[in-house]
Amino acid sequence: MREKLRIAIDGPAASGKGTLAKQIAKKYKLLHLDSGKLYRYLAFQVYKTKHKKINYPKLQISLKKITLKKLHNKILTTEPITKIASVISKQKKIRKMLKKIQHHLAYNPPKQFKGSVLDGRDIGTVILPDAHVKIFLTASLNVRAMRRYKQYKKSGIKTTYNKVKNDIKMRDYLDTHRKISSLKPAKDAVLLDSSFYNTKSAFVKIDKVIKERIKHIDATY
Ligand code: C5P
Repeated sequence: MREKLRIAIDGPAASGKGTLAKQIAKKYKLLHLDSGKLYRYLAFQVYKTKHKKINYPKLQISLKKITLKKLHNKILTTEPITKIASVISKQKKIRKMLKKIQHHLAYNPPKQFKGSVLDGRDIGTVILPDAHVKIFLTASLNVRAMRRYKQYKKSGIKTTYNKVKNDIKMRDYLDTHRKISSLKPAKDAVLLDSSFYNTKSAFVKIDKVIKERIKHIDATY
């Protein structure tokens, strides 16, 4: 039986992987899961506790109630949640809990989808090492900071370019230096530095890669 298509997109904060994954999902009718939102969802549960401590049994319970709709909650993108997500993501137990959900969605997307595209930090290396297509998207720190700063400005969030840049720098450090599932490209990933591309040209490049891969795999799309 032909398999459903699975695409992994990894990269550092604000590299544009989310936007790209959304576009790919739309074009190829795939379920899109922004795995960062799962970490943010758990971070939000931690944030709500009095002492901001991780309570694993409680997190398990809230994970049981998780829905894709809940991941769209705007609060998940706020600064305190972002900070907690970045810190709790180094915990082995947290990653294990979230791996299950990611697997479930990637391998069994609802019927209306022809496959799945997951974006994050460890999708190609740990979550879906057998993904049919793996992309690793980067961009320089300055470019990523400027993109994120403009997004914040557009949504009315008050901040400064330097603050955004320092936050991203810190998150990069934590993501690349943690002992497990650290941010790195899978050996078979296609690397793309989007510093000098806009979203449209980055999409065109990635789309070419996907089309080429699809020709050679036994997957439906
Ligand atoms: O992608 P996003 O910036 O929303 O992710 C929030 C945080 O979750 C990141 O800073 C990172 O530490 C963590 N994360 C992770 N592994 C993933 C996705 C996100 O550790 N696959």
